[in-house]
Amino acid sequence: MGKKQKILIIGASGQLGAELTQGLWNLYGKENVIATDIKEPNGILTTGNFEILDVLKQKPLFEFIRKNEFTQIYHLAAILSATGEKNPKFAWHLNMDGLVHVLDAAIEFKIEKVYWPSSIAVFGPTTPKENTPQDTIMDPTTIYGISKQAGERWCAWYHSKYGLDVRSLRYPGLIGYKSKPGGGTTDYAVDIFLKH
Ligand SMILES: NC(=O)c1ccc[n+]([C@@H]2O[C@H](COP(=O)([O-])OP(=O)(O)OC[C@H]3O[C@@H](n4cnc5c(N)ncnc54)[C@H](O)[C@@H]3O)[C@@H](O)[C@H]2O)c1
Repeated sequence: MGKKQKILIIGASGQLGAELTQGLWNLYGKENVIATDIKEPNGILTTGNFEILDVLKQKPLFEFIRKNEFTQIYHLAAILSATGEKNPKFAWHLNMDGLVHVLDAAIEFKIEKVYWPSSIAVFGPTTPKENTPQDTIMDPTTIYGISKQAGERWCAWYHSKYGLDVRSLRYPGLIGYKSKPGGGTTDYAVDIFLKH
């Protein structure tokens, strides 16, 4: 049997986190997963381990990771596309500095696996629309897309420089019914039900 896994989820109260947390409970056991966010969770997440944690506050973040001896981190905290356009500098700050804090912590505390979602927002209007290749013209036009493209390169750099096992998928628009929309381009689909 492998080493016992202890999992940290950052940004767990959002659309992805609400679903992912329950999936990780099922895989690793509720007692081995700690969901964190700057926002209190609602619904089923209140039944598991939850702590308030701000990924931008490096010292408390590092202390929390050290104390809990995590083996995996799922880093979901970000400003999404539509909100990012309203406050581009803050979107850059959260999306980049938050990620780099997590990657640095992963090196310092020898975290086995880091997961950080990217987005199809890394592509832009000049990207081939049919059968879009993995490696192609990207040219993102939103701050969110630019931050996701740069984030992918940061992850690749930590892998090549330090051998960190950090993985990512480029998701399309994802929505969930367990938390309110977080400011992405597909929010309207959930807003229709919540506001009308
Ligand atoms: N939803 C999508 O369609 C989609 C598509 C592609 C990629 N992604 C990526 O998946 C991840 C999660 O997206 P989501 O839709 O769940 O977003 P969301 O906005 O619903 O959730 C993000 C969560 O991060 C939290 N957060 C914000 N600042 C924080 C901080 N400083 N410290 C800790 N937590 C903080 C928020 O309170 C929120 O609960 C993001 O990285 C996003 O870019 C989402």
